[in-house]
Amino acid sequence: MTALNDILGSGGVLTDAAEIEPYLTDHRHLYHGRALTVALPRSVDQISRLLAYCNDNRIGVVPHGGNTGYCGGATPDESGQQIVLSLKRLNRIRNVDPLNYSLIVEAGCILADVQRAADEADRLFPLSLGSEGTCQIGGNLSTNAGGTSVLRYGMMRELVLGLEVVLADGRVLSTLGALRKDNTGYDIKSLFLGAEGTLGVITAATLKLFSKVRTAATAFVAVQSVQAAVELLARLREASGDRVSSFELIPRIGIELTTRHIPGVRDPLKQPYEWHVLCEVTSSRAADRLDDVLTESLATAFEANLVLDAVVAQSDREREALWKIRETIPEAQRIDGASLKHDISLPVTSLAPFVTKAGDWIRDNVPDGQLVAYGHVGDGNLHFNLNQVAGTSRDVFLAREGSIKRAIHDIVRDFGGSFSAEHGIGRLKVGELERYASPVELDLMRAVKRTFDPNGILNPGKVLRS
Ligand code: MLT
Ligand code: ZN
Repeated sequence: MTALNDILGSGGVLTDAAEIEPYLTDHRHLYHGRALTVALPRSVDQISRLLAYCNDNRIGVVPHGGNTGYCGGATPDESGQQIVLSLKRLNRIRNVDPLNYSLIVEAGCILADVQRAADEADRLFPLSLGSEGTCQIGGNLSTNAGGTSVLRYGMMRELVLGLEVVLADGRVLSTLGALRKDNTGYDIKSLFLGAEGTLGVITAATLKLFSKVRTAATAFVAVQSVQAAVELLARLREASGDRVSSFELIPRIGIELTTRHIPGVRDPLKQPYEWHVLCEVTSSRAADRLDDVLTESLATAFEANLVLDAVVAQSDREREALWKIRETIPEAQRIDGASLKHDISLPVTSLAPFVTKAGDWIRDNVPDGQLVAYGHVGDGNLHFNLNQVAGTSRDVFLAREGSIKRAIHDIVRDFGGSFSAEHGIGRLKVGELERYASPVELDLMRAVKRTFDPNGILNPGKVLRS
């Protein structure tokens, strides 16, 4: 402990059990670990010295951001021998360059603060997630976060120009130069994105900015089917000149859950429908008449029997009310009872047949489970979740988690999809990665891990088994 105090200085090492406690449990309360201590460094140099010390002494280090992940990636194991490394004090925006459309930000910066800094410079940082008021950019980078505007702007990986990373032995790799073109050998930085802190600790990043959104049109649309949603998206992309920024699927049960559990949510349509999409078209040109584009596309899709009914938001308040339905589905699901989550992705062409096949399997095999399939249909990413049916046994339902997951993920594989679209691997899906990744991929991943972290001190047991 003396060595850690020397490195991190006064207030840099937590010793009080009550102060350490919040760092030991993940957001979904799937895991509860123990830790030697929690380190709260204030500088890259302190992190560098800390990692060099831990590497020499074979001490596991668990990087920790806003703790909003779904897979237990930021929680220490039960050994009590690991150090939690919180990045929250490294939270400066180092530079904003509106002309280069970029900014440099430290890992502990809250995502909403990055968005605000961009906005103040008349630019847009487009990553947008339900947890944006709490999650940290280091976690977004380390999990390659997705969210509701991936369709237009890409996932976190695509928003990065450069990184600063502390390696396991304490060396600092800096590629923060804000270059859009740089073909100088292997793209090493890309390995840290989505690596969940197992290859190095990201301390800062140069991120891409975009032109600020000056006008938006938002609609809540009842569609004939999942297939109709996919076809509507293609029409809307074409009609809007590829300016669809969000296209989110909401099932009937999503509306029932949110209207039941979340104050202020109501169904904006007059009749109940089975499937809906929340879609948004945006532009940096204030004069663009996006409402007209949206309304005309919806009218022709109505004639083609893809769309059954729709409302277009007439004010910011109406827009926020529509988004509230989508954004509060996870919370409403949690309040409603036990749930099983599957964060899957497929080519959009396969979504409808997948939903039919996997939905049939659930109906035939999980009588105590209700399908709640919602999410980023424009990206081919569904949160294909199941909620426990009211009046059934929570324990019996949850006891089947493994076999249900296996069946659904096997169907996903048969359709050429992924068992983890945007929430990563963490500790939760290590077994799934071993099952679904090819032996060649796993060999290469293990070789990369050995190269970057030969002593296995970086987030041990996450992504790959230690
Ligand atoms: C969302 O899209 O709402 C989040 O990814 C949460 C979830 O996976 O349920
Ligand atoms: Zn999501």
